Amino acid sequence: MSGETPYQDDRGNRDRSITNPGPAHMGDPVTTHGPVTKAGGAGPFLIGDGMTGGYGRGADILHDCTIAVDTGEIAVIVGPNGAGKSTAMKAVFGMLNIHTGAVRLNGEDITRLSPQDRVRKGMGFVPQTSNIFTSMTVEENLEMGAFIRNDDIRETMEQVYDLFPILREKRRQNAGELSGGQRQQVAVGRALMTKPSVLMLDEPTAGVSPIVMDELFDRIIEVARTGISILMVEQNARQALAIADKGYVLVQGRNAFTGTGQELLADPEVRKSFLGG
Ligand SMILES: Nc1ncnc2c1ncn2[C@@H]1O[C@H](COP(=O)(O)OP(=O)(O)OP(=O)(O)O)[C@@H](O)[C@H]1O
Ligand SMILES: [Mg+2]
Repeated sequence: MSGETPYQDDRGNRDRSITNPGPAHMGDPVTTHGPVTKAGGAGPFLIGDGMTGGYGRGADILHDCTIAVDTGEIAVIVGPNGAGKSTAMKAVFGMLNIHTGAVRLNGEDITRLSPQDRVRKGMGFVPQTSNIFTSMTVEENLEMGAFIRNDDIRETMEQVYDLFPILREKRRQNAGELSGGQRQQVAVGRALMTKPSVLMLDEPTAGVSPIVMDELFDRIIEVARTGISILMVEQNARQALAIADKGYVLVQGRNAFTGTGQELLADPEVRKSFLGG
């Protein structure tokens, strides 16, 4: 490890310029940290607030669903298959139209922004499936991740390699040749290339062994400690809630339980219904 906080330096300048990109957005109410203009107080850094909506003209999948994450914190969404966890993530990232509710980033209403514009605002997203380019090398994947940047990306790439040293070793290899855990590292690294202020991960540990899962969680904690907010869906509910500042149990597109990770782990009903007793 070259430093305990590989993304720390970025926080001081780059993130600011992403959330407050200058001339074109001079009128934005968003400044830096601190009080936000919306709702008259410092709300969560990112919130999908009372989201109701579904795919195309289909029935609603989300029903008044709220998920949020604070700066530098880890928020975890758990729930049964088909509960709408991925749909909630897509809604927050702008891949889905919600007809009620709003998404706010640092106090700014971004409900109508495209996913690409949300990336420009500082959001990074690793979807549940197809989250890497398998026929490209590891390094090409990272380069693709930096698509919105015109500046020198080498420093960020080195930070990603410091976080995931195996990727430096395999930088010239096709991503499709990597193990499941290594692919997930590529996917997370790819999302970090835009220097996001919030990183959204949909089941980052899917299909990996318990040891690899623990390692990935450690890296995710490391990223959060640099001040990047993490909003994560996890199938490994127990382990994920153990590292969560905030936890959400979704059932049929609705918030069923919300609390700190520890509160949810201790809740008898949550334990019985969602954590296997
Ligand atoms: N692209 C889509 N078009 C239409 N319906 C969809 C689409 N994607 C998901 N759905 C539906 O939305 C509902 C919620 O699915 P979603 O993928 O959000 O669940 P999930 O909680 O992420 O499940 P899992 O744990 O299996 O990943 C399901 O009924 C699913 O069939
Ligand atoms: Mg899902």
